[in-house]
Amino acid sequence: MNKITITTPDDWHVHVRSGQLLRTVITHTAKRFKRAIIMPNLNPPITTVTQALHYRNEILHALPENSAFNPLMTLYLTDTTSAEEIHNAADCEHIKGFKLYPSGATTNSQSGISQLEKTYPLLDAMQKHSIPLLIHGEVTDNDIDIFDREKIFIDRHLATLTQKFPNLRIILEHITTQEAVHFIQEQSSQIAATITPQHLMFNRNVFLVGGIKPHYYCLPVIKRETHRQALLAAATSGNPKFFLGTDSAPHPQYRKESNCGCAGCFSAHAAIEFYTEIFEQAGALNKLEGFASHFGADFYQLPRNQSTLCLVKENWTIPATYPAGNDEIIPLNAGEECTWKVL
Ligand code: DOR
Ligand code: ZN
Repeated sequence: MNKITITTPDDWHVHVRSGQLLRTVITHTAKRFKRAIIMPNLNPPITTVTQALHYRNEILHALPENSAFNPLMTLYLTDTTSAEEIHNAADCEHIKGFKLYPSGATTNSQSGISQLEKTYPLLDAMQKHSIPLLIHGEVTDNDIDIFDREKIFIDRHLATLTQKFPNLRIILEHITTQEAVHFIQEQSSQIAATITPQHLMFNRNVFLVGGIKPHYYCLPVIKRETHRQALLAAATSGNPKFFLGTDSAPHPQYRKESNCGCAGCFSAHAAIEFYTEIFEQAGALNKLEGFASHFGADFYQLPRNQSTLCLVKENWTIPATYPAGNDEIIPLNAGEECTWKVL
């Protein structure tokens, strides 16, 4: 097949930052997606409806003219979030969920949750108001190996949480393991997961073999091949519990290429192209539209998009860098060939 037309996709997990970085990256997301769930982990984090609406306006102003892109906002859950804020968020048409970061799990997660049990009254309020919970599912204990942090989070916390709040809609974000796939498959239809392009394309050799490659370092960290296979099978299975969320997470080059480089892969420049190539190689192009354009909207209880996006099979070279003011962003697969192109 040389051409494919699908319902315009949505990105159910993306970091677009603010200021100059935002102005650079948002054009890439808006070119490919009609809507996107915007992560609230700015510094300081977006914790109130008022802040989220300001941030949404900044995003709208950064969009190219005539863009129909709709940013769907989330609030950052902290130890001091009030039940009232949950009420306010549920009443606001632009807020689509709360993001739970275990404190210290990743970039700008310092304000995250220190003890999950303490949030139970808030989760109860979210369940009552039917507003989804988005989870970065990793434990942060120093004694837990970084490759095991997702699995242990599921065992220690997520299983209990889904039992205690059976009607709470939960998205386990950017899953990276076979264990996460199995867990999601076994749960009720209230629990779903997003999968990134990098976790479908690569195993951990990509950033550790032949020299350390910081632009393939993200959190949760990319795992071994058996996990990639499980994720690929889940994404291409047609099971509506698995849908697209790029976790595109841009950082300036100097922050990635450093003696303490931060986590995050920037993939917005070719996000839907990557997924198309992945599904094509898996012989599952017919499953792409569900994963990219239908299942996420259904889970978030939003209408599916009316418009379409067309991709053609055509090689183009991914640029080595994208300028962002005085900084540069190094895109995922910089300098390599991409085999699909958005028309
Ligand atoms: O790799 C990541 N980068 N994982 C996250 O959870 C956060 C993100 C970021 O904000 O850079
Ligand atoms: Zn993320």
